[in-house]
Amino acid sequence: SPAEHVKIVEVGPRDGLQNEKVIVPLATKLGLIERLSSTGLRVIEAGSFVAPKWVPQMADSSSILAHLSKHPPQLPTAAHKISYPFLVPNTKGLDAALANPTARPSEIAIFASASEGFSQRNLNCSIEESLARFAPVVSRALDAGVPVRGYISMVIACPYSGPTPPEAVVDVALKLLDMGCYEISLGDTTGVGTPHTVDVLIKALLAAGVPVEKLACHFHDTYGQAIVNCMVGLANGVRVFDSSVAGLGGCPYAKGATGNVSTEDLVYFIHSVGMDTGVDLQRLAEVGAWISDSIGRKNNSKVGPALLAK
Ligand code: HMG
Ligand code: MG
Repeated sequence: SPAEHVKIVEVGPRDGLQNEKVIVPLATKLGLIERLSSTGLRVIEAGSFVAPKWVPQMADSSSILAHLSKHPPQLPTAAHKISYPFLVPNTKGLDAALANPTARPSEIAIFASASEGFSQRNLNCSIEESLARFAPVVSRALDAGVPVRGYISMVIACPYSGPTPPEAVVDVALKLLDMGCYEISLGDTTGVGTPHTVDVLIKALLAAGVPVEKLACHFHDTYGQAIVNCMVGLANGVRVFDSSVAGLGGCPYAKGATGNVSTEDLVYFIHSVGMDTGVDLQRLAEVGAWISDSIGRKNNSKVGPALLAK
């Protein structure tokens, strides 16, 4: 029987780069997205339509979207399809994302928080206000035929509000699903989750009736627990994982947060248990080395440099 498939959502061009202090040239961002597109990945988050005074690094997202539509990256095979999601925080961001009818994002993502402290710092409003702002974003996007993914940040704990009760995550997850999000990505924004806390959280979501097919794990690796936490997700039936090539990244509004679990390490791990990602790991490792070098960052993957040294 064919190997079971695990979907990887590559977030390097967005989550990975958004925290870079020096503006990464547009050509480098496009080069990254193009190179990632040749590895077999099927979802590559490409930017975000947020306020440029909040996250200047993402201010060129319209250009990225336009470029991807005009010059679709070369794909591994003719049948291969890639989705390039963009983050959208409000209707203003949605207007920008949908401004060009010939360059529509294949999907968008909204991002709520399970903690009040981070909601205020990241979105400048309470959780409840943020959900009220997201509702028209989701309904207009769906009307336009654009699917919407929902992120929840600080699902384990928050540097501003302390430990997050699993019920707080369940509450936001059910509301985002109710709004029409097709998938909920569980963000351990500051990487403080451990196998036990992640297990308790996922089991609470499943017990509340959230279908496992609608869950994704989005784990940052600040404390080195991201891979083992992905294992816990996998053991609970989750088959969608977010990661960042070379482990790039960190969140501008979450102090102490470092990058996502590296895509190289995640792919290596998933393949090791006999599951399939469709990703060419050697090629991916080369992209990780290239982007680390291009932006002058240490490669935070373990697997990538190890493979390339062989
Ligand atoms: P605000 O300041 O309350 O917004 O920010 P506002 O409505 O008062 O507008 C302020 C200014 O921003 C105005 O411009 C607006 O036009 C402009 P001015 O009149 O002063 O010149 N503006 C916009 N411009 C472009 N696009 C827009 C937009 N909206 C307003 N969409 C707001 C509220 C939500 C806009 C702001 O807080 C924001 O942009 N936040 C985003 C922060 C962010 O991007 N964080 C990182 C992504 S989340 C993340 O990384 C976590 C995740 O990875 C999961 C995990 O790890 O947990 C997803
Ligand atoms: Mg993140």
